[in-house]
Amino acid sequence: MAKLAVNGGRKVRSKDFPTWPVFDDQEEKAVLKMLNSGKWWRFSYGEGIDWHEPKKGDRSEVALFQEEFAQFMGAKYGIACVNGTGALDMIIRALYIGPGDEVIVPAYTYVAGATCILQSNAVPIFVDIDPDTYNIDPERIEEAITGGTKAIIPCHFGGQVADMDRIMEIAQRHNIFVIEDAAHAHGSEWNGKGAGTFGIAGAFSFQNAKNMTAGEGGIVLTNSYEIAENIESLTWSGRKHGRPWYEFYQLGWNYRMMEFQGAILRVQLKRLEEQNSRRRENAAYLTKLLKEIGGLEPVVIDPKGAKYSVHIFMIRYNPEEFRGLPRAKLLKAVNEEGILAFSGYTHAVTCPVGLPFTFNTCQNRME
Ligand SMILES: Cc1ncc(COP(=O)(O)O)c(C=O)c1O
Repeated sequence: MAKLAVNGGRKVRSKDFPTWPVFDDQEEKAVLKMLNSGKWWRFSYGEGIDWHEPKKGDRSEVALFQEEFAQFMGAKYGIACVNGTGALDMIIRALYIGPGDEVIVPAYTYVAGATCILQSNAVPIFVDIDPDTYNIDPERIEEAITGGTKAIIPCHFGGQVADMDRIMEIAQRHNIFVIEDAAHAHGSEWNGKGAGTFGIAGAFSFQNAKNMTAGEGGIVLTNSYEIAENIESLTWSGRKHGRPWYEFYQLGWNYRMMEFQGAILRVQLKRLEEQNSRRRENAAYLTKLLKEIGGLEPVVIDPKGAKYSVHIFMIRYNPEEFRGLPRAKLLKAVNEEGILAFSGYTHAVTCPVGLPFTFNTCQNRME
C-alpha cells in the first residue's frame, strides 16, 4: 500500500473540491433586477399580512418564492422567514405550546430542535435515534409520551425523512402534533410525499450550507390555513390581516425574509432537483465503495425514503476494525489525503460528551 499522506506520502486527491454555494448569472440577474426595482421588502408591493390574497401584476419575490416552494414540496401554504430556527420557534408558538408542556425531540439533532421548545418554556423530552438512520427511533417514542406531551419534532437528519408512517400513526393515536424539522430535507420524500407536509407544520432552513441557500433564510410549510395565518402574523410582529399597520394582536417578531433572499432562492429552487439526483448518484457510488472496507458503515436508507436530499453523507466508524484508531486520527488521515470529512455534530444535543464514532463527508461539495 502507498504511503499515507499523513505519513508524508502523496495525497489521494490534490484537486480542491468545488466550492459552495453553486450560483451563476441567473442569481446575479435576479438580485440586480430586485436591486434596481427599488422594492427591497415585501410591503413595497402592498403584499404582506394579506399574503393569502395574491395581488395582480408585479409580485414580491418572497411572496412568489413561498408559493413556489410550498407547491414544489406539496404543501398548501409557505411562510418565508429569516431562518430555520425562527421557523421552528414560530411553529411552537402558533400551536400555543407553553410552560410545562412536553415535546419529544431526537437526542441527536441540531440544537434549535430542542431550544425552540425551551424558548416557550416547554420541556424537551429526548428520545434516542436509530443508529442506522440517525433519525428518531419510532420504537422508543411511545414510552416517552405522558399526559403532558403536546408534540413530537422528528428531524429528517441528513435529508432522509424519518419514518413518517409510524410517527404519524403514534401521534394520531395519542392526539399530539407532529412538527417536522426539515432543515436538511429540501426535495426529500417519504413514499412519494414531500418532507414537511406530513405533520401540522414543517420548518426548513436556507442557511449557507443547505442544499438551497440565500446565505440565511427559512420557511414554514403547512396545510392548515389557521396555522399559516397565525405564523404570518408572528413574522409580522403580531399584526393581523386586514387591520391597520400599527395594530398588534399578539407577541410576534420581525422574522420577515428579505426580497434579496427571495430572489436568490427562486433561482436556487430551479437547480435543486438536478443537484439532488446527482448527490444521490454520488452517494450510491460512495456507499458501494465503502462496503468494500470494513468498519465504515454508511447511513442505512429506507426504500420509502430513497428520494432524499443527501444533505449530509453520514458514516459510522467502528474503531475495532482499525485496531482501535481514534476517530480524530482517522479524520486527520482522511483530510490529509485531500478528502473532506468532519465529525459533524460532535455530541448529542442532550450531553456534552462526544459521539466518537460518527462522521460526515463532503457536505454539499458535489462533482
Ligand atoms: C436540523 C436543523 N434544524 C434547524 C436548523 C436551524 O436553521 P438555521 O440555521 O437556518 O436557523 C438547522 C441549521 O443548521 C439544522 O441543521
